[in-house]
Amino acid sequence: MISFSVNGTSQMIDVDPSKPLLWVLREQLGLTGTKFGCGMAQCGACTVQLDGRAVRSCVTPVSAVAGKEVTTIEGLKGENATLHPLQHAWIEHQVPQCGYCQSGQLMSAAALLAEKANPSDDDIDRAMQGNICRCGMYGRIRAAIKSAAATSSTALFYNAAQVQEQEQEQEETSHG
Ligand code: FES
Ligand code: FES
Repeated sequence: MISFSVNGTSQMIDVDPSKPLLWVLREQLGLTGTKFGCGMAQCGACTVQLDGRAVRSCVTPVSAVAGKEVTTIEGLKGENATLHPLQHAWIEHQVPQCGYCQSGQLMSAAALLAEKANPSDDDIDRAMQGNICRCGMYGRIRAAIKSAAATSSTALFYNAAQVQEQEQEQEETSHG
């Protein structure tokens, strides 16, 4: 038995420990948003997050995720369970063409933004270099990541401003 968490839900699975995580997600848990491309860590189509870091699930034995948190494209979301800023940006920039590589691209991009809120072009190239897009949407992917980064920092700025405003109001009420 191997127990781990997927998108916030605990799972306990009776499985060959060497079975790749990709096939456990797709066949045993029905999470088919994660795709099979090469099976050799060469294309990025199978990318998921393991404790927040992007990993290739086709070469990750399920035994390696015991006790850890796996996030798949089905679990990617923004605040209050709305779309993640990257998903908004993906739509705005019309990134997907055939769509096959897209869940892997999004999971790599989300791991990057969680680590670096304002990535440079070099950061983006480094984080995304293992995610191949046969439709050649690299320019749009980079633009969408930048746009999501800008939106997220604006949201953080507004949240901080709101908190400050509320604190001021509370202070005024308590002194008044
Ligand atoms: S299917 Fe895993 S990297 Fe290609
Ligand atoms: S959108 Fe077709 S492979 Fe990337």
